Amino acid sequence: MSVTPNGSNGPFLENKKVTVPDLLQRKCQAAGSQNKKITCLTAYDYPTARLVDEAGVDVVLVGDSLGMVVLGYESTLPLTLEESLHHTKAARRGVQRALVVADMPYGTYHAEMSESLHNAMRFVKEAGAEAVKIEGGERRLELIARLTEAEIPVMGHVGLTPQSVNALGGYRVQGKTPAAAEHVMRDARSVEAAGAFAIVLEAMPRELAAEITRAVHIPTIGIGAGPDCDGQILVLHDLLGLTFHEPPKFARQYADVGAMISLAVKEYCADVESGNFPSDAESYHAPAGVKGRKTIPIAR
Ligand code: KIV
Repeated sequence: MSVTPNGSNGPFLENKKVTVPDLLQRKCQAAGSQNKKITCLTAYDYPTARLVDEAGVDVVLVGDSLGMVVLGYESTLPLTLEESLHHTKAARRGVQRALVVADMPYGTYHAEMSESLHNAMRFVKEAGAEAVKIEGGERRLELIARLTEAEIPVMGHVGLTPQSVNALGGYRVQGKTPAAAEHVMRDARSVEAAGAFAIVLEAMPRELAAEITRAVHIPTIGIGAGPDCDGQILVLHDLLGLTFHEPPKFARQYADVGAMISLAVKEYCADVESGNFPSDAESYHAPAGVKGRKTIPIAR
C-alpha cells in the first residue's frame, strides 16, 4: 500500500482506493472507539471531482443536487437520467481514490422494478458508478434488496428526502415529534435490513441521528443531522460559496469561490478593455528574420 504525504489531512493520507467493505469496516471499528469519520462531498464534473478526490475525501456523490446547483432547476425533481449519467461519467473520470456514488434522479426508480434495476445498472455499466443512492426508507425495502442482489451497493437516504418535497410540503426538518422520530428510525432500520451499505441522514435532530447511528450496523452519513453520525456530507457548492441562495443552517461555507470568480472576470474584462491583455509575453512571435506574412497579390 502506498502512502503520500498530505499536510491537510493528518501526517499521512492512505492512497488506497476506498471500497464499500472499507466503509463498513470503519463502522465496525467505530464501535467503542474514536474512529476517523467518513468524509463525503458532492461533485458533478471532472475538475471538481478530481480536486475533491485529490484532497482526500472518502466518498464522491454525484448528487441530484446537480439539478439545482449546476443546472439551475428550482428543485431536484426535473433532473433526468441522461443528465445525471452524463455528469456521473465526467466526475468518474476525475476520481481515483474515493468511492463514487451516483444519486438516482426522481422518477428513475419509482415505477417498475425492472426499469429501476435497468436504470441503476446504467450508472454502473455506462457511467462507472460504484454504488447508487436512493431516497426513502420502508417503501424502498424491496428495491434496495433487489439492487443489492444484483451486486449494486446501495446508499440509503432518510429523514428529509428532497425528492419528496411536494409530499412533505417543503424542505423541513424531520423526526421532531416522538412519532415522527419513530418513523425515521423505522426507515433507517428498513434500509439497513434491505442490505444498504450506508445511509444518509438528512435534516433531523442530532439526538435522533445519534440514536440511529447507535442502532444500525452500517455507517450513517449526516447532513444537517449533527456531529454524532459516522460521517458527514455537504453539497460542494455550499461549502465553496458557489450558490445563489441562502445556504441552509448546517452548511458551513469554507470559501467564497463565487466572489473569487466575479473578481477574476471583472479584472479580465478591465484588462481587455484597456488593452492590458494580452501582453507581448502572452503573444506568439514570428520566427526571427520573418517580419510578417508576404502579401499575396489578389488577381483583379
Ligand atoms: O443530492 C445531494 O446532494 C444529496 C446530499 C445527501 C447532499 O443527496
